[in-house]
Amino acid sequence: MQQDKLWNQWHPVCKADEVTDEPKQVRVLGEPVVLFRNERGVHAFKDLCIHRGASLSLGKVVDGRLVCAYHAWEYDGTGACVKIPALPCERPIPKKAKAVVYHCQTYLGLIWVCLGDAPEALVDFPEYGLDDHRTVICGPYDVKANAPRIIENFLDVSHLMFVHEGMLGDADHAEVVDYDVNFVDGRFITSKIPVYQPDADGRGQGGYTDYVYEILSPTVARFTKTTEGLDEALTIFTAVNQLDDEQCQVFMLLTRNYELDQPDEPYREFQDTIFYQDLDIVESQKPELLPLDLQAEMHLKSDALTIAYRRWLDELGIENGTIQKQSTRT
Ligand code: FES
Ligand code: CO
Repeated sequence: MQQDKLWNQWHPVCKADEVTDEPKQVRVLGEPVVLFRNERGVHAFKDLCIHRGASLSLGKVVDGRLVCAYHAWEYDGTGACVKIPALPCERPIPKKAKAVVYHCQTYLGLIWVCLGDAPEALVDFPEYGLDDHRTVICGPYDVKANAPRIIENFLDVSHLMFVHEGMLGDADHAEVVDYDVNFVDGRFITSKIPVYQPDADGRGQGGYTDYVYEILSPTVARFTKTTEGLDEALTIFTAVNQLDDEQCQVFMLLTRNYELDQPDEPYREFQDTIFYQDLDIVESQKPELLPLDLQAEMHLKSDALTIAYRRWLDELGIENGTIQKQSTRT
């Protein structure tokens, strides 16, 4: 049950332009997955040939079909095996000769895979792709931690003044005002949380910026920063792919409605710096699995959002925040 919940979620596995007609292996919840592109789009199969278990990602794409490197069985985009060279031509291809096909979509410049039969809806990102907004993809960042720990760090307001002091916060302005957390349209959203930022976006301007956080799925969250009196908005979107029990990959999208003609690189560099400031902390956290029993750690009112997140994971049946592989399932 717990695993089904994440099994039915969409997980970001790579940038869309990384998938070509060269098969590519990725991992989701411990499952090896092969991606390839043909004229009909991107396809995701279990990275295992049903004949003798070779990795399909060692093969190649010929005429839009994925051809296994071992005995050259050919799979079309639906996963059906359409050619078995060793089979005399008068014999039909066994009906069971089919790759295990996963749901796969291109969205927000990323490839998303769902291993389950009944995918949840993809998360919303209304600003993405608007003419007056510009998005930079950052990462993927490798992290030796569980996805809920990573998402919780992203949702944590009161670390900004210390872990990111001088960039996203200031130790002399560490108080967090009370804020609301509401569940609206299938996601959690906070009221505006003012945070003093000595250098809010790398342009050397200090002052209060309002953060509005949203939790979009157990492994996807975002916040939007705005400043009163200014039309500028910066949204940072974080999507975590739990590769296996110990490792994750984190994709971050920065969407801004200002400096549209400026290069993206400084934004990416800024985000890299911020991310690596968090990395040691998140990888150090014990226990590795986010404790969902609220008695297990201490909480302040300023932790209202992360408390809501823990309660929600608990309600969803994601026991202890773990995301375990379900290797028996095909
Ligand atoms: Fe793939 Fe034999 S193992 S064709
Ligand atoms: Co941080």
